[in-house]
Amino acid sequence: MSETKNTVPDFEHVETAMYRQEPPEPGEDFLLAIVGAGNINFGSDEGPWNHSFRLEHKLGPRLKVVALIDPAKERAEEVLEAKRKSFVVSAYKDTVIYADIEDYLKAITPETRPHAIWVGSPPAFRGRLEKGRNLEVLVADNLPKTAMFIEKPVTTGPVEEAAEVAHDIKKRGNLVSVGYMLRYLKVVQKMKQIIDENNLVVTAVNGRYVMAYEYLSKSWWWNKKQSLGPVIEQATHFCDLARYFGGEVDLSTVFAHSLEHNEPAGKLHKLNVDEEAIPPEDRIPRVTSATWKYESGAVGSLMHCVALHGQDFFTHLDVFADGYYLRLVDPYHAPTLYVRRPGDDHEETYRYSEDDPFFSEVSNLVDCIQHGPNAAPILSTYEDAVKTYALTWAIRLASEKRVDELAKLAKIQI
Ligand SMILES: NC(=O)c1ccc[n+]([C@@H]2O[C@H](COP(=O)([O-])OP(=O)(O)OC[C@H]3O[C@@H](n4cnc5c(N)ncnc54)[C@H](O)[C@@H]3O)[C@@H](O)[C@H]2O)c1
Repeated sequence: MSETKNTVPDFEHVETAMYRQEPPEPGEDFLLAIVGAGNINFGSDEGPWNHSFRLEHKLGPRLKVVALIDPAKERAEEVLEAKRKSFVVSAYKDTVIYADIEDYLKAITPETRPHAIWVGSPPAFRGRLEKGRNLEVLVADNLPKTAMFIEKPVTTGPVEEAAEVAHDIKKRGNLVSVGYMLRYLKVVQKMKQIIDENNLVVTAVNGRYVMAYEYLSKSWWWNKKQSLGPVIEQATHFCDLARYFGGEVDLSTVFAHSLEHNEPAGKLHKLNVDEEAIPPEDRIPRVTSATWKYESGAVGSLMHCVALHGQDFFTHLDVFADGYYLRLVDPYHAPTLYVRRPGDDHEETYRYSEDDPFFSEVSNLVDCIQHGPNAAPILSTYEDAVKTYALTWAIRLASEKRVDELAKLAKIQI
């Protein structure tokens, strides 16, 4: 349970909006290698993600991006060109593009040895042991103790392999932070604080993740051979929070149903992809509803739905303990926490203006690299994130009634 105890001390007084940060202090260069020239690292219209922008604000002119690793050379050149035209040119003027991590590792000299590797490549190309997908193991072997940031989910490969990668990283001592950024939200930290301060034992967690699908036109997302399906790809953030609050799940107890595309209730009328082009067996479920037991005996549940039109998702997470009801509402857009406590049937409301969990995630890792591993809490370690990955797979296997595979998964030591 120790992994679930981590909190941000005094989080209510920490400024997380980028524009309210003190200007970065001058100092030595901070050398960074970025893996993946896509949306999460360089931004898009789709959402607030853009790690490079936040790193620039955290480090100022000290940031020197020594390498950008991406097999799509044109995309890499495009993002570098845009940066070089802006005021952050000094961070990118000497960036070298590499097609893969192996080429990059061979080219490192003592002068260019990075302080961190920032990984936002697709999960299919990491978290494994085989060549071409073994980024973490290569970094741990060649650059022991170099910090890594890794996006979620940790992989799309087998859970056993991800567990081996986790063991390898632990052995080598690399500090790793995984991109479960909702953990850094102040409302989430408030929930953690209330649980810790009142010595609460969580009795039930119930997540509802209802996504708006009308404009989701990326065909890979609708193909579970490629995306692994909406629980592993998307509701992973809520499975992670369910573990953060409830503790470890007994994976052998996971039970789930799904509503499939070919069932009478599974027809979607606003699809913006040609689902006919996806083999029927690879089409994603419209609803996945799961329950499980935590090792503590508490009960958890999750419902993921592909249901809404328009753009905004409906996302709620309920956490119950004796006398307490903590309700996290809309963590992606307008994070709000409602709390009912003993002694008052009315709910308290918590909102923190301009809270940027992506910035906190970036800032905490940079602080740890600069000032030691205890400088700021890393709220999602690699090992912990592998456990979340395992939970999401357990839900998928249970919903597909793959009972033998689920029993095998439940025995994996992470
Ligand atoms: N935390 C969040 O809210 C959040 C939001 C968006 C994306 N993500 C995660 O970030 C990751 C990347 O998503 P994205 O939206 O940026 O995807 P993207 O498709 O926009 O970008 C991925 C980039 O990686 C490159 N790439 C492919 N194979 C590579 C390899 N072997 N090595 C290096 N680069 C490689 C691609 O060419 C592309 O430029 C995914 O794991 C996704 O789940 C997380």
